[in-house]
Amino acid sequence: MNRFVGSRVLVTGAGSGIGRATAQRFAAEGARVACLDVRGHDETAAGIGATAVAFECDVSNGAAVAAVVDAAVEALGGLDVVCNIAGIGHFRHSHEETPEDFVRIVGVNLNGTFHVARFALPHLLAAGGGVIINTASTAGLIGQPWSAAYCASKGGVVMLTKALATEYKAQNIRVNAIAPGGTKTNIINSFSTYPEGADLRQLIKVMSPMEMAEPEEIAALFAFIASTEGRYMTGSIVAIDGGITS
Ligand SMILES: NC(=O)c1ccc[n+]([C@@H]2O[C@H](COP(=O)([O-])OP(=O)(O)OC[C@H]3O[C@@H](n4cnc5c(N)ncnc54)[C@H](O)[C@@H]3O)[C@@H](O)[C@H]2O)c1
Repeated sequence: MNRFVGSRVLVTGAGSGIGRATAQRFAAEGARVACLDVRGHDETAAGIGATAVAFECDVSNGAAVAAVVDAAVEALGGLDVVCNIAGIGHFRHSHEETPEDFVRIVGVNLNGTFHVARFALPHLLAAGGGVIINTASTAGLIGQPWSAAYCASKGGVVMLTKALATEYKAQNIRVNAIAPGGTKTNIINSFSTYPEGADLRQLIKVMSPMEMAEPEEIAALFAFIASTEGRYMTGSIVAIDGGITS
């Protein structure tokens, strides 16, 4: 498929996992791609080749995002699609979570998603439209144990998505979120240490009997939603989770 020939796509979290697979997918379908991350972005862009550019960007820093989004749009020659994929998390009992780590997780997952949307929107408005796709999680739809900051941030992404979709639908800007379940990426390592005394039976509700997803399967959904085939989708929260939220 070549659905994105001539399209300009910005991807955060592009240094690894779902973000890297998504940058590669859009590039494989003809897009020019800006790869943003705090690490791994250069490798992703180098692997894609001349149609990709890389920018170091901590999405939790609004001022940095403002500058990098402008630079990325200039490098791409415009902007059509924004994929907000950067994210962090961990397991910790809520009564042991530090205020600093709570703020850090929300700062990347929720504030970061807002920052990128905020500074991309003027470009999309000037262009007469575009697509923003955010990354929520099953943990933004149902409670996940030992994950208060992560769940709160992803629940926030769900409502941020709906708010933006409502606000900008008349301006031809579609805003949707993908809510993956378990996917084989590095973030799984951060969720592999259980807090002391944790009752592992609590994990049953957030596990699927199916094998975890490949990042490429999630990337394919980003591409579908961004494509003209996704034209009628806005404000949608699309779970791709092996039935966890069924
Ligand atoms: N893998 C899963 O099971 C799963 C399930 C549901 C949701 N998600 C979400 O998918 C998204 C992608 O995660 P992944 O699974 O590919 O994991 P990953 O760890 O492979 O990728 C996350 C990327 O985000 C980047 N990142 C972290 N902090 C950043 C910051 N401050 N600024 C910019 N980039 C930053 C990391 O460097 C990394 O490259 C995340 O939002 C995650 O919460 C993942």
